[in-house]
Amino acid sequence: MIKTAVQYHDFSSYDRHKMEGHALDWQNQPRVYKEYPGIDPIPLSKDVRPPEEKLSSLVKKAHVRDPVRRLDLADLSLILLLTCTLTAKTRHGGADFFYRSVPSAGALYPTEIYVAAHAIEGLDDGLYHFGVLHHDLTLLRAGDLSSHIVPLTQPQAGNAPQLAFFMTAIFFRSAWKYRNRAYRYHLLDTGHQAEHLILALKALKCPFSLTYDFDDAEVNHLLGLDVNREVSLAVGQVPGDESVPSGVAGEIRNLPKEMMKASCVSEKEIKYPAIDEFHEAGTDPVPVSIQVPGMIHEIGVTPGTWTEIPHSVAWPEVMNHGDTAFHRRSRRNFVKTPIGKNAMGALLDALCYSDSWSSSPDSNYDRSICTGFLVGHAEELSPGFYLLETSKRAFGQVTSGSFTQTAAHICLDQAWLAQTAVHFLFFSNPDLLDRTWGARGYRYAMLTAGRLGERLYLTATAMGLGCCGIGAFYDREAAELLGLNPKSRLLYLVAVGDVKKPINKD
Ligand SMILES: Cc1cc2nc3c(=O)[nH]c(=O)nc-3n(C[C@H](O)[C@H](O)[C@H](O)COP(=O)(O)O)c2cc1C
Repeated sequence: MIKTAVQYHDFSSYDRHKMEGHALDWQNQPRVYKEYPGIDPIPLSKDVRPPEEKLSSLVKKAHVRDPVRRLDLADLSLILLLTCTLTAKTRHGGADFFYRSVPSAGALYPTEIYVAAHAIEGLDDGLYHFGVLHHDLTLLRAGDLSSHIVPLTQPQAGNAPQLAFFMTAIFFRSAWKYRNRAYRYHLLDTGHQAEHLILALKALKCPFSLTYDFDDAEVNHLLGLDVNREVSLAVGQVPGDESVPSGVAGEIRNLPKEMMKASCVSEKEIKYPAIDEFHEAGTDPVPVSIQVPGMIHEIGVTPGTWTEIPHSVAWPEVMNHGDTAFHRRSRRNFVKTPIGKNAMGALLDALCYSDSWSSSPDSNYDRSICTGFLVGHAEELSPGFYLLETSKRAFGQVTSGSFTQTAAHICLDQAWLAQTAVHFLFFSNPDLLDRTWGARGYRYAMLTAGRLGERLYLTATAMGLGCCGIGAFYDREAAELLGLNPKSRLLYLVAVGDVKKPINKD
């Protein structure tokens, strides 16, 4: 049984000498859009304009404390548009295939979004599924659900949320290609998605909270998921100005079987027991730890000296937040131009803002990972491996030398990575995750790595640079290259640099 982060991460590791060939079963390719036959969705207008906000000002707005304001259906449509929409089309197997504003490992899009709405002008109270294909909402449960949602997702009952966003992953969508490794991508992809949601809420000046801690079984039941196939991973909420209705919330009835079947995405789905076992282990209560360690002190490497990152760093942005969200793409045609000093400063600055909010007082999601980077070519920074201490806004070189070529080799020989100016790295010590938070700590680490990965994607795009997330690497070789202690591992790599065709919104 796979029950710990140490076990799962090692079980899903790639080893150059033990890679098995895996032919994709195209007959059973998972459907990427969830559908509820027999229910007519409510169309949302796409004729909504994002506010002219700079990405930098939204990222720097560390935790929104804007006053509560009443939202309407147009606001919700805009939040969802900025959170996830279709942004590019290609032909694939004789049919149209759409890419989205949010990246996804292998473009397999495991993440689904559900919205519980209460007192939204123009929309009846209820629980809805968001359909990204047609930008619409399908009603799953009618009525105000806040008296159910608050006790399941908030330790200290606050106001009834106007909006609660539930992000889930459908296991087989990614497991079809990545098999046991797919749980890494369920979590990373959902983290990418969560970052879009948070920036959208900041852009609309909504106070919000985001949590990875909730009653899994009850939330899954509320959403009507087939838990053998689909599970909830993150919940974002926008408070309203009403208190939660008093009295007993009553039972949440089962949704009809037909609706639960919507979690099935292929006629022949294959089970990967390691994913189910490890996810299930994470539903145990999080142990109450005395102190949450700073991961940066637990991975076995440390720089000799630190350089401060000034708060005054000006981001050389060429696009605002809305355009950035709609123009983001993964780029791989990197060129060997050194990354500019201001652009590098902006990327480091972007990673230093923490607005982690958690429902369990001892969870501090940002502390579940630490960040480093490999400089290939950058103005005023010599090639080498660096660590970033985000809480102190400082970075320092651990080892000098050129590592990007070797890193490209370690990333399953994705040779183009050797050209890239910088490889950002997210690490963790899975043993410490287990000891501090139990199996759920792995969710915190990977969701946080995904969120920060998306922040890099968007910051790079806003500055006209290219970016690409990399989840495929030989795990042991990656840890060895960086000199991490034997218990620490690389979780995710994100490459950023100049690309052949500069990115602009035209
Ligand atoms: C978690 C994650 C891992 C990824 N890993 C790789 C990778 O190893 N190699 C690669 O070329 N692209 C990788 N990508 C990029 C995806 O292939 C890309 O997001 C997807 O094809 C959709 O294209 P788009 O980002 O341009 O919308 C990854 C993306 C994510 C979010």
